[in-house]
Amino acid sequence: MTDVSSRFIRALKREKVDRPPIWLMRQAGRYLPEYREIRAGAGNFLDLCYNPELAAEVTLQPVRRFSLDAAIVFSDILVIPHALGQTVDFREGVGPVLDPIQSSRDVAKLDASGVREHLDPVYQTLSRVKAALPENVALIGFAGAPWTIATYMIEGGSSRDYVKTKTWAFGEPDSFQKLFAVLEESIADHLIAQVDAGAQALQIFDSWAGLLPDGAFQKWCVEPIGRIIARVKDKKPEIPIIVFPRLAGARYMEFLKIEGVAAVSLDQTMSREWARDHLQSGLVVQGNLDPVYLVLGGEALKQEAEKILQIFAGKPFVFNLGHGVMQTTPPEHVAELCDYVAAWRP
Ligand code: CP3
Repeated sequence: MTDVSSRFIRALKREKVDRPPIWLMRQAGRYLPEYREIRAGAGNFLDLCYNPELAAEVTLQPVRRFSLDAAIVFSDILVIPHALGQTVDFREGVGPVLDPIQSSRDVAKLDASGVREHLDPVYQTLSRVKAALPENVALIGFAGAPWTIATYMIEGGSSRDYVKTKTWAFGEPDSFQKLFAVLEESIADHLIAQVDAGAQALQIFDSWAGLLPDGAFQKWCVEPIGRIIARVKDKKPEIPIIVFPRLAGARYMEFLKIEGVAAVSLDQTMSREWARDHLQSGLVVQGNLDPVYLVLGGEALKQEAEKILQIFAGKPFVFNLGHGVMQTTPPEHVAELCDYVAAWRP
């Protein structure tokens, strides 16, 4: 197995590693001039996501530049609603814009039958990247969690208060669950297909998990993710799965109780001492540098990285950010961080 040589996969399997592996959420993207160049020639953002040759190239760009232990396939969480037949558009300076779904009638129109076929270019991207990656760099596949994807589908994009999504979830849980049933099935299928295409680990992004009030978190974050993981593990029992329930606070603990979670990715608000004491004995911990330190660079960046390494290293740990790389990040700062972690020893 090629996985044997990858530091990232070994860390996720709790095997001994010489130093913590590192990769960064949104390591491919607009902070890299070579990305902006390809993006400018590719048409709109979704065209780039569905172009295996260019998407593979963009996936590999950060791996060529920096000492990273993993690549994450270049795609987006919103390809799922798009594959289900919803109109999705990425507008310059605005972000994602969707034709919002508003009722169970709209849910009934979603068509899960063509998801795999629609997303075939993503699987082709994974195969291309896998063939091009050195053996010691692992390949990550990903998907959004149902709750986070549902917020975009219902609000029609980003939102300030998420009232539409929450009103539906709290007021009509049965019809909301029908939407989730479609999402859970498509997300699980999409993750399984990514493993077939070469993904060696998976991450589930629940970026808006922190919006869920007490009582609803279990039902709309933990349980749906648990059902997706069960489906994936049924077909792919060996695949390590990382869950990112952003801004969930102490509720990260709930993922200790879910079968099949290898790791949790911590956002930057999480107390590291608390995570070490309450999570790291049962789960691999990934995280949690504030992405603004990468904008800052220099000594402040190194000192903060050192603090994180001191607290988590020696136990199962993957170095990452608390959220994605910011657009204003100087690429040299990413090099500084990756070199620092690559040279670090416990
Ligand atoms: O390098 C990687 O991490 C892989 C690629 C990746 C993208 N999006 C590319 C992208 C991944 C893993 C994502 C996940 C994603 N997409 C999330 C979850 C993680 C998070 O950030 O919380 C979410 C919520 C989305 C939805 C999304 N996609 C938004 C809100 C936006 C617009 C905001 C923005 O930064 O422009 C996108 C667009 C997007 N996805 C870009 C990239 C590189 C920028 C698009 C561009 O090139 O113009």
